[in-house]
Amino acid sequence: MTIDDLIGPVQASSHLGDYFEEPIDGWFGEFGGQFVPELLIEPLKRIEKVARECFSDPTFASELETELHTWAGRPTALTHAERLGKRWGADVWLKREDLTHTGAHKINNVAGQIKIAQRIGARHIIAETGAGQHGVATAAACARAGLPCTVYMGEVDVERQQPNVHRMKLFGADVVAVSSGDRTLRSAINETLRHWASDPVNTYYLLGSAVGPHPYPWIVRTIQSVIGRETKSQLAERSVAADVVVACVGGGSNAIGMFHQFVPDKNIRLVGVEAGGLGLDTDQHAVTIGTGRPGVLHGSLSMLLQTDAGQIRETHSISAGLDYPGVGPEHSMLSQTGRASYMSVTDAEALSALKECCELEGILPALESAHALAGAREIAREQPGQTIVVCLSGRGDKDLSTLMSGGTDRE
Ligand SMILES: Cc1ncc(COP(=O)(O)O)c(C=O)c1O
Repeated sequence: MTIDDLIGPVQASSHLGDYFEEPIDGWFGEFGGQFVPELLIEPLKRIEKVARECFSDPTFASELETELHTWAGRPTALTHAERLGKRWGADVWLKREDLTHTGAHKINNVAGQIKIAQRIGARHIIAETGAGQHGVATAAACARAGLPCTVYMGEVDVERQQPNVHRMKLFGADVVAVSSGDRTLRSAINETLRHWASDPVNTYYLLGSAVGPHPYPWIVRTIQSVIGRETKSQLAERSVAADVVVACVGGGSNAIGMFHQFVPDKNIRLVGVEAGGLGLDTDQHAVTIGTGRPGVLHGSLSMLLQTDAGQIRETHSISAGLDYPGVGPEHSMLSQTGRASYMSVTDAEALSALKECCELEGILPALESAHALAGAREIAREQPGQTIVVCLSGRGDKDLSTLMSGGTDRE
């Protein structure tokens, strides 16, 4: 099967053109779907209907563009990382999502989905968060929209991302520390889904990555595609021809937002970088595409880290945002068709790439984004002289306590 069989011809049916083409019935090839309890089917249908209306409405598009420009700080810069490139033997460009308001790409998705929630008439926004970036972005957008906000966050993540917990509270959000399960992102999503199921009419679940039941992977990718769209035109303005585009993959939203525009450009390699934790020879990692197999988690069928008995495996990553046993269904499809490839780097490799980026470029990347940098470094080592574009998904201020403790603050 090829990518063309799965994606089909580009549909230019909506006002915003091909960025908003949708997966048929929520499937990306064999992956995706809507594996949810009966009572969530109607709310999901309502979200899909309203999202479709929004995406084909010129007013929505221009309001979103204005909000991204005047509140969220878009377009973000594309920085030529010359010293890093010289060290690695490559031409390296960084797409600076770290420069957005609240410090990561998560704000793009939130700025779009809050408008969908408002059109639906939601009275209360709920969200999960791992690294806290999605929680902070959601809390900020809710403050601006005058909507109450509850954010679920695993206890482990509350501990390692304290600054973000405080930021959410400053924006008026109710932060609920989740003590069940693995106490990281997976448990936070479980609790948010539970909350949503108890009041799906008044509550809008503002999901933070390209995961979950249809229509979320499509909605999140559609809104996040602004990253790739801007990058493509910034490269063209400078007459730079990319050989490789690299992004880290947790649930997969910054990566799919970056990749989507480049999928038709078959001469450009797309590489996702998963969290190798303590190494693939241990079970302390979150390498979902690289070592998982298909299964259902949080409402969709995708690659999944699971035991022989089908139980979800516990994960480990130094970066809270990549510490997740699942991945968005579109990535599973891109991997299966071979259009994108996925590699992993360890905690230690990510930390050393973070340090290099600080010392050579004066940029402190998030630990998640440092995985993309370490992946790019590896790619440059294997084949020198390439032009590599890295999605620098966020800034590392939130990670200072982990960095100050030598990167070992998770027991
Ligand atoms: C800065 C940053 N990058 C990447 C991620 C991973 O998420 P995704 O794979 O959805 O982009 C996160 C998640 O919290 C994050 O905060």
